[in-house]
Amino acid sequence: MLVAPSILASDFGNLETEVKAICTAQCDLVHVDVMDGHFVPNLTIGPVVVQAVAKAATKGLDIHLMVENNSFFVDLFAPLNPEYISFHIEEEKHPHRLIQKIRSLDIKPAIVLNPHTPPEAIEYLLADIDMVLLMSVNPGFGGQKFIPTVIEKAKRLKKMIEKINPTCLIEVDGGVNDKNIHDLKEAGVDVVVAGSYVFNASSYEDAIASLHI
Ligand code: DX5
Ligand code: ZN
Repeated sequence: MLVAPSILASDFGNLETEVKAICTAQCDLVHVDVMDGHFVPNLTIGPVVVQAVAKAATKGLDIHLMVENNSFFVDLFAPLNPEYISFHIEEEKHPHRLIQKIRSLDIKPAIVLNPHTPPEAIEYLLADIDMVLLMSVNPGFGGQKFIPTVIEKAKRLKKMIEKINPTCLIEVDGGVNDKNIHDLKEAGVDVVVAGSYVFNASSYEDAIASLHI
């Protein structure tokens, strides 16, 4: 299991120290939540702050867009060379075109599904992406309760992935902790995002290690 701490739960007054600390604590990716106040009822950070994150990080950036105008935000963040950019399928009229654009910028494309969106919605896109991110909370805020139906959804998605694109990863985001990590692993999940579980822990290293199963 790969672990991507969400810096949304970090101390933004000490962002450089926080990003360095999770990287030293053996995280695999640094998850960055970009919210525009339109697609979700919250507003977070733009390229100026994410540039500071990129400078401090020794692991790849996993940028999760929760915005209305995906293509515009891809252009904003592409110069920071993130490893992944993920966008919500619920908010994109031309997902296939956007995937080609992200890949042409040498960034791995990923698609996010809200809790109500079935994996079948992206069946014809699976061959072209590197990761599917399943939301296990409603996007917009950290610290919410895990929605357990994501387990069944991950199992269904895994079967589709095995047929269509076996190298595509499954990531789960929201309410992940040391209790649900075993069910996620068993369902075929490859990457977990964890915000409050990691940043509220007294040892980032122990928290990340407990998810590395
Ligand atoms: C929610 C974000 C998540 C959030 C996870 O919209 O996409 O990445 O920060 O935080 P926790 O792990 O606290 O649920
Ligand atoms: Zn996220």
